Amino acid sequence: DPGAISDLVESRLRDVADFPKPGVVFKDITPLLGDPAAFGEVVRALAARHTESGSRLDSVAGVEARGFIIGAALAHELGVGFVPVRKAGKLPGETVQRTYDLEYGSATIEVHADAVEPGERVLLVDDVLATGGTAIAAWDLLDDCGAEVVEFATVVELAFLGGREAMGARPVHSLHVVG
Ligand code: PRP
Repeated sequence: DPGAISDLVESRLRDVADFPKPGVVFKDITPLLGDPAAFGEVVRALAARHTESGSRLDSVAGVEARGFIIGAALAHELGVGFVPVRKAGKLPGETVQRTYDLEYGSATIEVHADAVEPGERVLLVDDVLATGGTAIAAWDLLDDCGAEVVEFATVVELAFLGGREAMGARPVHSLHVVG
């Protein structure tokens, strides 16, 4: 039930004022992660959408750092591999990069050039969709590598920052929408 999952997420989020800078209200997912029943519900809700669709899924990609937590659990639940999308300079092998503007600052993310096979169907996951800069960069990076990204899935969507609109034709699925 989408309403129940949304309420559950909302109940396990903590608002932290003025982090990481004055005027920003940070949506902290650590209460959710610390509650095994709630964390399990969230992972199963994200997974059910794809098991029920019947279409093939080859891997889950998650964005450093909190996307790793949700993404790794989701990949395990779905029985597929996990592809880490990392901040620049962390991966040991040959990489493909994208640079983008963030809600606060700019960043470069990368994946291993051989992280996905051509045509591999990838579900992209993160904890929060804000401006969409990170999700767009990660999506396009996977696309550069030949993947077919099927959807961007997030636990929390900050609708007032317009991320969904910025994503354009790239499908977005969020469990809980703020604003
Ligand atoms: C946060 C969040 C998303 C991104 C969303 O990560 O986990 O990855 O910002 O913002 P956007 O839609 O405006 O791009 P953050 O940059 O704080 O990195 P971290 O998880 O490594 O702390």
